[in-house]
Amino acid sequence: MKKLRVLVLVHDVLLPPPDAEELGPDDTYLYQMELDVKSTLTELGHEVKVLGVDDDLVPVKTAIGSFKPHIVFNIITDFHDVTTYEAHFVSYLELLKQPYTGCNPRGMVLAGDKGISKKILRHEGIPTPDFHVVPLRKRLSKLPPGMNYPVIVKAATKHGSAGLSQASVVKTDKQLQRRVDYMHRSQKDDVVIEEYIEGRELTVAVVGNDRLEVFPVWEVWYTKLPKGARPIADARVKWNVEYAHGIGIKTGRARRLPEAKEQEIHAVARRAYRALDLSGYARVDLRMDPDGNIFVIEVNTNADLTAVEDFSEAAEHAGYDYGELLELVMRAGLAYKPAWQRV
Ligand SMILES: Nc1ncnc2c1ncn2[C@@H]1O[C@H](COP(=O)(O)OP(=O)(O)O)[C@@H](O)[C@H]1O
Ligand SMILES: [Mg+2]
Repeated sequence: MKKLRVLVLVHDVLLPPPDAEELGPDDTYLYQMELDVKSTLTELGHEVKVLGVDDDLVPVKTAIGSFKPHIVFNIITDFHDVTTYEAHFVSYLELLKQPYTGCNPRGMVLAGDKGISKKILRHEGIPTPDFHVVPLRKRLSKLPPGMNYPVIVKAATKHGSAGLSQASVVKTDKQLQRRVDYMHRSQKDDVVIEEYIEGRELTVAVVGNDRLEVFPVWEVWYTKLPKGARPIADARVKWNVEYAHGIGIKTGRARRLPEAKEQEIHAVARRAYRALDLSGYARVDLRMDPDGNIFVIEVNTNADLTAVEDFSEAAEHAGYDYGELLELVMRAGLAYKPAWQRV
């Protein structure tokens, strides 16, 4: 790939310090992806600038004006602490006519709301568990007709398993009502209740705009789960390294998955990506029940691209080393045609 000027936009609190490359993973894990992207693009010979973004857009505009990046590598996942504003941030880049990596704003809005995205998936006939949306100011006293316990109670627009714990999976109307109230209060967000799918936890990494590249199916295993606990990637699993280690979390290439099933999962992932109008790259999370039925759980735009995380490892399995993956992502960003280029 030709050498590019790349402006990496990160949250100011996740700006790697100047000596970050000399530090060990225990010190750098909070900003590992930011560091991996910066150091790898630099090693590849690109001219890289990293800007920490807080609550002010002026420095973003100034940096774009002076550095004139061929592409912004966008690692901003919220703004003013609001998750859904990540899409508005991309809108701002687009209004500046600045090419960027990752998803377009409309796709981000659609995929970023579990209620809206599931309505679209349902409409398109893409398998997803039965669900019901409870808006922030409504209450729910019993399970809607046609749905079956157990159900899992989630915040519509939050990432990173916010508010999710073992208590999120409920089996009675009383538990359901309590958990919905709790999620409304603690997350200040609409709530999605969804039938709980017992089974394997799978993910598919996807890159592209029109032509999509899908990587081998990845699996999450809970190898030392205490008796009675459910295998769910709740907040402790995602954010408490010791706890995750304790319940034996492992990820890797899905095992004993017949070729035809892998193809079916890939087809579902592509359909979900297209139905939500995504671009750039995303990770599709799925579950497969014991009968082999596939369900899309959610689609994560601008998924984690840390060098040793699932997305990058799946790409490596498909023959893309980490640098090649980042360049693939930048190529998708450069190739994406936003509306202003189509008028
Ligand atoms: N319908 C479901 N059936 C079984 N497990 C689920 C379901 N929905 C979510 N989970 C579990 O909860 C985790 C987090 O839910 P997810 O919808 O992916 O939200 P987040 O955006 O917080 O990652 C999933 O990785 C999975 O382990
Ligand atoms: Mg998820």
